[in-house]
Amino acid sequence: MQQRDTELAAGNAAEFAWQRDDVFGRIAGRYDWLCDLFSLGIHRAWKRRVARVIAQEPWAVLLDGATGTGDIMLRVLPGVLGQGRTIIASDISPKMLAIVERRLAGHRGAVELRQLDAERMPSVPSDSVDAYSISLGLKICDRSRAMQEAWRVLRPGGRLIVLEASNIPWAPLHRAYLLYMSVCMPLLGWLATGGDASAYRYLLHGIRDFPTAEGLARELGTQGFEDVAFERLSLGIVAIHKARKPVA
Ligand SMILES: C[S@@+](CC[C@H](N)C(=O)[O-])C[C@H]1O[C@@H](n2cnc3c(N)ncnc32)[C@H](O)[C@@H]1O
Repeated sequence: MQQRDTELAAGNAAEFAWQRDDVFGRIAGRYDWLCDLFSLGIHRAWKRRVARVIAQEPWAVLLDGATGTGDIMLRVLPGVLGQGRTIIASDISPKMLAIVERRLAGHRGAVELRQLDAERMPSVPSDSVDAYSISLGLKICDRSRAMQEAWRVLRPGGRLIVLEASNIPWAPLHRAYLLYMSVCMPLLGWLATGGDASAYRYLLHGIRDFPTAEGLARELGTQGFEDVAFERLSLGIVAIHKARKPVA
């Protein structure tokens, strides 16, 4: 456990481990509502944008890690239906996957649901997917391990798409944003979850300690990804990173 904690501090911005806390299972039914509350509804625009980015990439098989309630995959689906493309939506939480299953009622054939730990997916063969996406999940994983797994399962030339918390480039505004979040989020979160502090503690840690957009781009480059690019959304509160596993 000691070694795991040390590793968490290095690569897991939120210092979250699903093995220790089933917070996402506890809040699964309220997750989308909490996203609306914490982001004042802005997460919907981020999800629309990343869904468009994912749908536009060339893939026949997409693996979405830490898919949550499937909000983003449900937005990807209309653009890809009838094109013979397969989506594997995965999450560690069976309660989250149960929600995706209900929401996908009309599209069962187009999406395969899998319980997978983004840090270790031995049941997914190497070089087997054309695209791997992860949204708002990297800050609660050991991102080095999660990115190594993404690299392993991607075929050469495969695409990586990451939506994650980021930084507002103008530092005083970023500090003001963090201050606002550290004051409002515990208050709102405490009221909304009936005192389940985990739900917002991990989020706050994750937002504060996640690398800048440039920093994450460098990390992806160090992992061996090429053509790394990012776009900031909402002044830089979040960013979408895209990268490619080299063909050679
Ligand atoms: C913040 S939610 C993001 C959900 C969704 N991608 C979205 O953007 O709405 C994080 C999700 O990651 C899942 N999760 C946490 N640790 C995980 C891990 N190691 N592997 C896979 N999923 C994980 C949680 O169960 C939760 O559903």
